[in-house]
Amino acid sequence: MGDLPNLDVLCLASGGGQQAPLLAAAGARVTSSDLSEEQLALDELAAHRESLSLNTVRGDMRDRGEDPVIRYPLPYYDKARLSPERYRKLIESGETLTFSHSLEEQIGGQTEAGFALFGLLEDGWKDCPLDP
Ligand SMILES: C[S@@+](CC[C@H](N)C(=O)[O-])C[C@H]1O[C@@H](n2cnc3c(N)ncnc32)[C@H](O)[C@@H]1O
Repeated sequence: MGDLPNLDVLCLASGGGQQAPLLAAAGARVTSSDLSEEQLALDELAAHRESLSLNTVRGDMRDRGEDPVIRYPLPYYDKARLSPERYRKLIESGETLTFSHSLEEQIGGQTEAGFALFGLLEDGWKDCPLDP
């Protein structure tokens, strides 16, 4: 079999018949969730063709229910958000650290270095609680 036996993997916005079947082929128990029935049908097609077990669920990954709690707002840096003990364990076990950056850091850093920017469109969902 593959390299991921006994792992439960949830793939978000993952339809299309690519990543989810690949992870299933590697031995993981995979659930692929996507907004599009058509994209999920491609996952199912690939899984059927390759005789793989794959669970598909149609859903909107922005749907956090009635009272969404934003646990990891941007910008994010493990050192600032995790407990000192959890952070130390990540370091000691050689795990990767997670960073996320604001557009100011990303674009501002580039323009500060001399990069010229002539236009920018930032898309978003005005009324979505996940937008921040
Ligand atoms: C660029 S495709 C990537 C699909 C797949 N991961 C791949 O690389 O082939 C983006 C996917 O996100 C899905 N999607 C877009 N908005 C979504 C949402 N709010 N909730 C769940 N899926 C969403 C789309 O239906 C589409 O399948």
